[in-house]
Amino acid sequence: MASIFQILGVLLSLAASGYTLSCTHCSSSSDSCTGPNVTCPYGFVCGAIYIEGRVTGTIIFQSYQMACMTQDKCDITGSGTIPQNAKIKMGTSCCATDGCTPPPPSMPQDSSVSNGVACTSCISMDSAYCYSSDKIQCTGDEDRCFLQATKASGQTPKYTAVRGCATKSVCDLGSRSFSSEGVKPDNYVICGSRDGLTTHGAPGQ
Ligand SMILES: *[C@@H]1O[C@H](CO)[C@@H](O)[C@H](O)[C@H]1NC(C)=O
Repeated sequence: MASIFQILGVLLSLAASGYTLSCTHCSSSSDSCTGPNVTCPYGFVCGAIYIEGRVTGTIIFQSYQMACMTQDKCDITGSGTIPQNAKIKMGTSCCATDGCTPPPPSMPQDSSVSNGVACTSCISMDSAYCYSSDKIQCTGDEDRCFLQATKASGQTPKYTAVRGCATKSVCDLGSRSFSSEGVKPDNYVICGSRDGLTTHGAPGQ
C-alpha cells in the first residue's frame, strides 16, 4: 500500500513538472500574425499584444505579437500621448488551450479630461534621450510621464526617444513584456508620476 508520503511525492512531482501549454510565437506590423507553436514555461498562457499609433485618428503604425505570457499580463489596456497629437494605444488578451488564438485585445477609450499632470513632450530620432521645453497636459488615465527609448537593429546602434504622457499599465508592461531573461531589450520605458525624468542611458546596455 502506498504511503501518504509516496502519494504526496507523486502529487508534488506532478505539480513541479506541471502542465505546459504550447502557444503561437509571431509578430507582425498588422493586427494579426501566424507562426510556429512553441512550448511555454510552466504557468504561462498564450497571449496577444496589439499596439497601434494614430495621428489625429489615422493609423500610422500597428504591431501585433503572440507569445507565451504570464497571466498578470492578460487583459491589460493602456495608452500614451506624444508630440504632434500622436496617440499610442495597446491591449492584451489571452487564451489557455494548446495553439489557441487569443481574442482581439480591446482598446482603451479616448479621454479629453485633463488630470492635472503635465509632461515634457519631445521626439529624438538619433538619441536615447530627448528634451524640450514643450509640455503637454495629460488626460484621462494617462497620469505618468514616460520616456521610451528604442534601439534600432543594425550594425551601428541607432536610438530614438520619445516622451509624453502614459497610463500606469504602459509603464508596468514597458520593455519587460516579451523580453526573455538574459536577452537585452531593444526597447525600454521609464516612467515617473511627475515630470522629473532625468535618468537616461542606452537600451541594451
Ligand atoms: C499550433 O497548434 C494548433 C492546435 O494544436 C494547431 O491547430 C496549429 O496547426 C499549430 N500551428 C502550427 C504552425 O503548427
